[in-house]
Amino acid sequence: MSDFVKGLAGIVAAETNMSFIDGQKGILEYVGIPIGELASKGTFEESVYLLWNQKLPTRAELDAFNAQIRGYHDLPAGMANRLISLPMQAHPMHVLRTMISALSMHDPDPNNIELDAVRDKAMKILSRAPTLIAYFDRYRRGLPLIHPHKELSFAGNFLYMLNGVAPTEAMTRAFDICMITHADHGLNNSTFAARVVISTLSDLYSALTAAIGSLRGPLHGGANEGVMRMLNEIPSVDEVEPYILGKLERKEKIMGFGHRVYKNVDPRATELKTLARQLAEDTGNMELYEKSNAIEQVMEKAVAAKGIYPNVDFYSATTYHCIGLSLDLFTPMFALSRIAGWSGHILEQLEDNRLYRPAAEYVGPHDVPYTPIDQR
Ligand code: CMC
Repeated sequence: MSDFVKGLAGIVAAETNMSFIDGQKGILEYVGIPIGELASKGTFEESVYLLWNQKLPTRAELDAFNAQIRGYHDLPAGMANRLISLPMQAHPMHVLRTMISALSMHDPDPNNIELDAVRDKAMKILSRAPTLIAYFDRYRRGLPLIHPHKELSFAGNFLYMLNGVAPTEAMTRAFDICMITHADHGLNNSTFAARVVISTLSDLYSALTAAIGSLRGPLHGGANEGVMRMLNEIPSVDEVEPYILGKLERKEKIMGFGHRVYKNVDPRATELKTLARQLAEDTGNMELYEKSNAIEQVMEKAVAAKGIYPNVDFYSATTYHCIGLSLDLFTPMFALSRIAGWSGHILEQLEDNRLYRPAAEYVGPHDVPYTPIDQR
């Protein structure tokens, strides 16, 4: 009898100390702390520290951690030149994947997978990824590159490097909440990809490159760009219902809805919905929020009985738009934050490694005679 489970649904393939998910009840915790608590009271830097150390930092520990992150924002010599020789029309996810991979060539010891070395490399990558994306975005817009601001938080510095002006406190906080809510999420596809690669005792750069490749797919992190394209396609709130029902009738998926684990509301979507509403009001984007809300209502009537609710990608689209990010930066924002979770899982895998090597059930024919080429 076959044990085959398509898509490995429900299969436990790793242990983790980082996030706990109860998909039936709609609960997500990082190291036991509900995501809503962290989003309303914590910062991204604290969340990363928590995920990597299984405890919240003291003031002194957080100061030291912040100093480390801020100290690594600059790119190694030659990287900025490499970045501005890339095709301007390239999607930033392809750029990020390529440049994280390229960082390995600037590391004198890229294959070192001792835990302390991986931790330090992870910190550098987490710190440099915003610089890579902001530089690329300014380069393609024909604007001068803005160097990292060492006094600003992770979120504040990224928005500063992107826009060339210090962001408001409200924008920084909004972006920080996005970073917190995307930092880790169990054995999702990209995290699994990272763990699979590192389980061969490969290197951190290879594992993260694989994870970025996975994340950009439209069934995973790429869905947030799909949500925005859908919102742009719907001319007005009045046209939401026929648009969504038409898609469902044609058996098309609605981006930003459904989840392998959550069969109830994704708690990250709840946090981001509140944030999206506030930002939409502040930035004159209420129509976008209202369209999103109308989509949620139509989906509620049409498919909630099947356990299909908004996921993290749904309201993050409106949120990122209101923060002023261009559509193709949405998935890279997910990646920026998830580097924390991927790296944490890579460390966990290395601490107790066993090569991932599942089996495939052969379903083809047997004992087939070899036919010479001129008789086929
Ligand atoms: N719109 C319409 N129908 C849906 C949707 C959706 N977004 N999601 C699931 N369904 C239906 C699906 O058609 C199927 O119906 P039926 O049983 O009648 O054939 C049923 O629900 C089960 O769907 P599934 O695709 O087999 O479920 P899954 O667990 O394999 O897929 C998913 C999970 C996330 C891939 C899927 O819900 C989906 O494609 N959603 C849209 C893309 C998306 O928003 N992805 C982001 C996921 S959350 C963040 C992240 O991980 O990056």
